[in-house]
Amino acid sequence: MMHPLLLVQVDCTHPVDRCSSAVLARHFARRAGLAEQATAAVAIAVAELISNAVRHAGKGRLELRMLDAAGGRPGGVEVKVHDDGPGIADLEAAARDGYSCGGWLLPDTPRSGLGAGLGSVRRLMDEVRIISVPGVGTTVIARKWRHRR
Ligand SMILES: Nc1ncnc2c1ncn2[C@@H]1O[C@H](COP(=O)(O)OP(=O)(O)OP(=O)(O)O)[C@@H](O)[C@H]1O
Ligand SMILES: [Mg+2]
Repeated sequence: MMHPLLLVQVDCTHPVDRCSSAVLARHFARRAGLAEQATAAVAIAVAELISNAVRHAGKGRLELRMLDAAGGRPGGVEVKVHDDGPGIADLEAAARDGYSCGGWLLPDTPRSGLGAGLGSVRRLMDEVRIISVPGVGTTVIARKWRHRR
């Protein structure tokens, strides 16, 4: 039988959308059969990615997909956040903690964030792929499987 909830798409434009999209992601991940901790991980990752899209690119689109179990692979959830913003020049640095808005944060650096969002997404999700083209935009695709962690 087809699962009734295979795909959700939402456009996010406001900082508060990180909260509503996290709530949505939590319901979605639960519905996909993820355990409580994995469900929380998906919700936090979505909040961080939507925060990035809204803060650094002005707006973004969230897609949530259920992944069916197949070929020995467990089922799970795929999160995709896409934006048409400025892109990320140094992807490797941006995905490490303490790098924010183009530089490494020092104790007295004025800051708008902790530079820990993308690092958290890497730690919370099982697979993370970031595709970013300067001047074109950023897409992050992250997956969480049902039976891991
Ligand atoms: N969607 C995006 N578009 C453009 N730049 C981005 C995007 N996502 C992240 N970045 C860049 O990568 C940096 C690191 O992102 P990260 O989420 O780790 O930290 P932050 O957003 O600066 O702070 P925090 O998430 O801790 O509040 C950002 O400061 C920004 O320069
Ligand atoms: Mg962030």
